[in-house]
Amino acid sequence: MLVLGIESSCDETAAAVVDNGRKILSSVISSQIEIHREWGGVVPEIASREHLLKIDPVVSEALDRSGVSIQDIDAIAVTNGPGLVGSLLVGVNYAKALALGLGIPFIGVNHIEGHFFSVVFENPPIEYPAMALIVSGGHTNLFFAPEAGKYELLSRTRDDAAGEAFDKVAKMLGLGYPGGPVIEKIAKQGDPKAIRFPIAKISDGTPDFSFSGLKTAVVNYLRENEIEPISAGEEPGKDVRDVCASFQDTVVRTLLKNTSKLAKERKPRVLIVAGGVACNEALRTASMRLGEKLGIPVYFPSRHLSTDNAAMIAAAGHFHLMRGERSDAGLKADVGIRLQNHRISPERSGKNLPYKV
Ligand code: KG4
Ligand code: ZN
Repeated sequence: MLVLGIESSCDETAAAVVDNGRKILSSVISSQIEIHREWGGVVPEIASREHLLKIDPVVSEALDRSGVSIQDIDAIAVTNGPGLVGSLLVGVNYAKALALGLGIPFIGVNHIEGHFFSVVFENPPIEYPAMALIVSGGHTNLFFAPEAGKYELLSRTRDDAAGEAFDKVAKMLGLGYPGGPVIEKIAKQGDPKAIRFPIAKISDGTPDFSFSGLKTAVVNYLRENEIEPISAGEEPGKDVRDVCASFQDTVVRTLLKNTSKLAKERKPRVLIVAGGVACNEALRTASMRLGEKLGIPVYFPSRHLSTDNAAMIAAAGHFHLMRGERSDAGLKADVGIRLQNHRISPERSGKNLPYKV
């Protein structure tokens, strides 16, 4: 079954053709990073306008590169939330129009579930129960999946997402946007134990994450030690290198503390670490170490599948389509859609569409 995936939830316009949910025939990503960099973060209005300009050429290129014609596509999977509403609407409406025009089924996919499925291309099949740490610029969630398609949210961030914390700290240090890759690069030359930043503890005892305290601790440290943001082209000094390394180390330890505790309780058969922050080598190394301790494999997507892409959306869509789920013309962009107990409601499933697998 050939699924065309479409993703436009934030600042990447992406399309991919995926065969049987596992083989990527093409994956095209048009990133708006250069445009948003000037503003130090994603500007929603600019993002939706860019998606409008890019969606058609990106889908055409994905079809061209896949070597299949549009008539060969069996179904379309599109991200319908969570994300920026203007951005989501572009993908959802495009996918709907295309699917209805071609007379093929389509399905709305939860972006977070897309990240969950991003590991299927390069790893052995996911064994259940699975645990998944999804860490990106918009989300920091730990899920327990007792079986395929069922998700229990064990832990989430109470404030900033982990990627957002990287982006904000990078901004304070004058390092530009997005923050993750540049902090990781500078952290390699710093001492992760140089500064003791705090690991947040949630006072009500829930195993949730929190990164705003860490962000404040970095602000205070910079102020107390009179560390100025660096200017363009300037080499970071030892003080900035140590802040980057210590901050990154604290984020990794924060993420894996809860993950380790909950994994010991829930005993998953595999740990998935996905989302943009999963590009981070320090997080990968520490997760592998945790997997070894727990005696379970850790699945990561490769870098180009860690950040937003449409192949993961096609894979998640394929899974639901194979279970007979469908969306109908009433599919909406849903900015706050949750993955927990994710289910396509019967009224949205349009089961009578002319579709055979
Ligand atoms: O998954 P993604 O592309 O978009 C969202 O769904 O949010 O994630 C983007 C986030 C950004 O915050 C970026 O700074 C972070 O992922 N990121 C990283 C790295 N590469 C990207 N964070 C830490 N280390 C990296 N190497
Ligand atoms: Zn994402």
